Amino acid sequence: MSDVLITENIIGEAMDELRERFDCVFEPLLWKEPDKLRAMIPGFRALIARNQTQITREIIEAGTRLKVIARAGVGMDNVDLEAASQAGIVVSWTPEQNTNSVAELTIGLMLSLARMIPDADAHTKAGGWDRWKYMGVELSGKTLGIVGLGRIGSLTAAKARALGMEIVAYDPYVDPESLRAMEIRARMTSLDEVLTVSDFVSLHTPENDETRGMIGAEQFALMKPTAYFLNAARGGVVQEAALLEVLQQNRIAGAALDVRQQEPAVPSEFDKLTNVILLPHIGAQTHEAQRRVVTTVCRDVAAILNGGEAKYFANFNKPRRSRS
Ligand code: MLT
Repeated sequence: MSDVLITENIIGEAMDELRERFDCVFEPLLWKEPDKLRAMIPGFRALIARNQTQITREIIEAGTRLKVIARAGVGMDNVDLEAASQAGIVVSWTPEQNTNSVAELTIGLMLSLARMIPDADAHTKAGGWDRWKYMGVELSGKTLGIVGLGRIGSLTAAKARALGMEIVAYDPYVDPESLRAMEIRARMTSLDEVLTVSDFVSLHTPENDETRGMIGAEQFALMKPTAYFLNAARGGVVQEAALLEVLQQNRIAGAALDVRQQEPAVPSEFDKLTNVILLPHIGAQTHEAQRRVVTTVCRDVAAILNGGEAKYFANFNKPRRSRS
């Protein structure tokens, strides 16, 4: 019997300390083997994962000694939260630790699209010097449409305002008069209007039953032919086939995707397009964000294993299961 099972590459000083204090098993590729995970999980009191481990009801029910599932990140789409709550297992997470990194990446992607930076770089390295091919657009004075005005959406909006952009936003859970909307002077409106009026549309919603597939052919048809689409949230929110079609037909100016419906992404027609920037889900991949994320999950796992409370919990904060 051990204490902590780590199923993805979660490393750093805080993890080293956790491994000194508790009996930890580090299996960074275990997320690829759900059957092996199901077989191993009964032996552990804690599970630490990122977004690639599918923490299903089956896994949770097999984890008969589990007291805490720690999600080193913010998206909860890979964790069956309801099953964890029913089983009395605390789910800890890091709701704000990577916010700034994702917001900065989104700004970087907007600039990359506006100035065609990745393509211009490839062109120059291939010996080219065609300055007229790379006539871009400025961000200043343009409208950024934010879909999902949570932590990441609102910080992205604040940074975009500093670059001179106007903000329109759709979020059915944010009151138009809320401080969050007022601070960034976002005009809250419908999803259709956000898509229709924006020069850049950026997704910042979680993936859940309400948002899965919410941006499809009908929504892309509303966007301006000069507009750009960005997704650094979750691939499943977008119908990729519909996005591929509008990009292939140049019905929008371009797109940047940090996340995909299937991750790791498989080779696809997107790879052949020059009007799309593709990244391997690196929104939270900065030294600063990872230090904060790993420190937070390790501290909360240690607290729960010692019978205490998690600081960041997605369900209840005290361990419910009696100690075995
Ligand atoms: C998150 O949900 O925090 C990010 O997508 C990054 C991750 O899960 O590793």
